[in-house]
Amino acid sequence: MRVRYLGHSAFEIRGSRTVYVDPFLTGNPKAPIGLDDVREADLVLVSHDHEDHLGDAAAICKKTGATFVSTYEIACDQAAKAGISVEGMNIGGGIDLPGGVRVNLVQAFHTSSIADPAGIVLEMDGKVIYHLGDTGLFGDMALFAQLWSFDLALVPIGDRFTMGPRMAAKAVEFLRPKKVVPMHYDTFPVIRQDPKRFVELVGGRSQVVVLAPGQGLEL
Ligand code: NI
Ligand code: MN
Repeated sequence: MRVRYLGHSAFEIRGSRTVYVDPFLTGNPKAPIGLDDVREADLVLVSHDHEDHLGDAAAICKKTGATFVSTYEIACDQAAKAGISVEGMNIGGGIDLPGGVRVNLVQAFHTSSIADPAGIVLEMDGKVIYHLGDTGLFGDMALFAQLWSFDLALVPIGDRFTMGPRMAAKAVEFLRPKKVVPMHYDTFPVIRQDPKRFVELVGGRSQVVVLAPGQGLEL
């Protein structure tokens, strides 16, 4: 499985299915690709409805026929506005999708315009990836580590709107993922951050892989 960082909190995950998470491409100064470069997708997962996460989600679904997955209210809103195929769900729930893919929503401590923000746990091809969305730190991350063995955690470190490096390192301690990729930093001046500080604070408990936008890793 190939996981590629598209800048900010956007990722492309290619396994038995092609999945985009929080695909903020248009207007993202760090995005290595644009909407035109996205040619096929099966699923688009959205953590919450802030524009830097919802981004091009509906447009990708429209052009590829992918299914949009998010909290119920956001899914209904997008289905009505964009006429796309959606799966609405809610925090604490999981859904089984074609190809043996399972998507679970968990809480995220943040704000949004419609519905509560969420984190996304994606199970595909025997791997478990946790995209934390935008969130503050919460102790139940330790509980998630009892429910899942995370192969990869995608963790916001930008501070101001989400956890900064110190809290993000504590999140990693709770989650115990095999690999961690920091996200949601350096997109804009207000979330400038040195990922090396995060790497130091994690201190070898998990393997931190700092990806420049466009780079990826193999799972
Ligand atoms: Ni947000
Ligand atoms: Mn955000």
